[in-house]
Amino acid sequence: MKFDFETPKDTAVGRSTKWQKMDLLLGHPAEKGTIPMWIAQADFQPAPCLQMAMQQVLDSGEYGYFDYSEFAERVCWWYKTRHNWRPDPAHVFATHGIGNAVGLTLQSLTEPGDGIIIFSPVYHEFSAKIRRNGRVVVESPLMIDEDGLFRMDLDALETQLTGNEKAVLFCSPHNPAGRVWEPAEIQALSSFCARHDLLLFSDEIHMDLTFGDHKHTPTAISAPDALQHLVVMSAASKTFDIAGLRTGYVIIPDEGLRDRFASYYAALDIQPNRLGSDLTCAAYTPEGAAWVDALIEVLDSNHMAFCAGMNAIPGVSAMPMQGTYLAWIDFTDTGMSDSEIRDRLVGSARVLSTPGPNLGIGGEGHHRFNIAAPRATIDAAIKRISDAFSDLQ
Ligand SMILES: Cc1ncc(COP(=O)(O)O)c(C=O)c1O
Repeated sequence: MKFDFETPKDTAVGRSTKWQKMDLLLGHPAEKGTIPMWIAQADFQPAPCLQMAMQQVLDSGEYGYFDYSEFAERVCWWYKTRHNWRPDPAHVFATHGIGNAVGLTLQSLTEPGDGIIIFSPVYHEFSAKIRRNGRVVVESPLMIDEDGLFRMDLDALETQLTGNEKAVLFCSPHNPAGRVWEPAEIQALSSFCARHDLLLFSDEIHMDLTFGDHKHTPTAISAPDALQHLVVMSAASKTFDIAGLRTGYVIIPDEGLRDRFASYYAALDIQPNRLGSDLTCAAYTPEGAAWVDALIEVLDSNHMAFCAGMNAIPGVSAMPMQGTYLAWIDFTDTGMSDSEIRDRLVGSARVLSTPGPNLGIGGEGHHRFNIAAPRATIDAAIKRISDAFSDLQ
């Protein structure tokens, strides 16, 4: 079946955060035609199976209390068929997205003041959520290897430990740049956690979108010994662009951890909502899988074009992408300051990206660009950015 990845969503005049928050971020009204490439929100038409599920909810007219038992079954089916891990449905908790999952996990399994390790640069909300929950952010800077890829530096992290650290909040695949961690790297991290008595919180929200031979391996499969200290978090929301339905899930294989999480979860009376649950169930089907396969082809082609376009600008280089739709572009060799780079991107190119420093240590001189948009949009962005830096040619 052919799916439509060419017609952009007609959201520029609606209430979509991607468009509506631009003025706030810029501190002034965005120039007409500014391309939003900042937030991890896609600009494609929804998968037909989601539209059908939404229509069924409407047709049913039933918005009352609901049986959500199918949700955990579909989550486990998806993990099994797409990622070769079969969790137990009894270990699955629906949450209001991953931000909520991180908060619940921190509150139920760690104490105020505990150190939580993150690998920077990383999704900026990790540090924000750790701080908002009264825990302490411990940043472990990622290294860049000879192939230009992020690597965790566990030796350096070892020397950084003070004994106050309680957990690692791991982004797999990694946002930004889409590093798809290899099983051996995940195993090494899990062994590190076991050695230092750390819990491992594995955010796998970007797991479905990987390119070529790069396949996401769930932490539970890469590191079977992680099961005793593991909390997995994921969602259909990035893959299918349904983040506004605020639905994700947590999977906890270990009984002791699960019981602690479950009592906190019950105390707050967290329950799925009908739309988020139904659309996740509709996404996690063979029809959803076919749409994702087609989406991956589009993203693969978009990222190759975008990275090639950026690499053609003197002093600018793209980190090779193995997955996700969040390109990580290095402007440091242009010799420009962060504010000059931003002025050129926003003022001349009229492209709004995420400034690297927002993502922590290692973000200076970088920008993150969301390439989940119709190809015409990506081509326009490449042209405008190239023009904005054309004096470097
Ligand atoms: C790694 C990662 N986790 C979580 C989220 C957001 O999840 P949610 O919207 O469910 O809170 C994002 C969004 O970009 C992300 O990149």
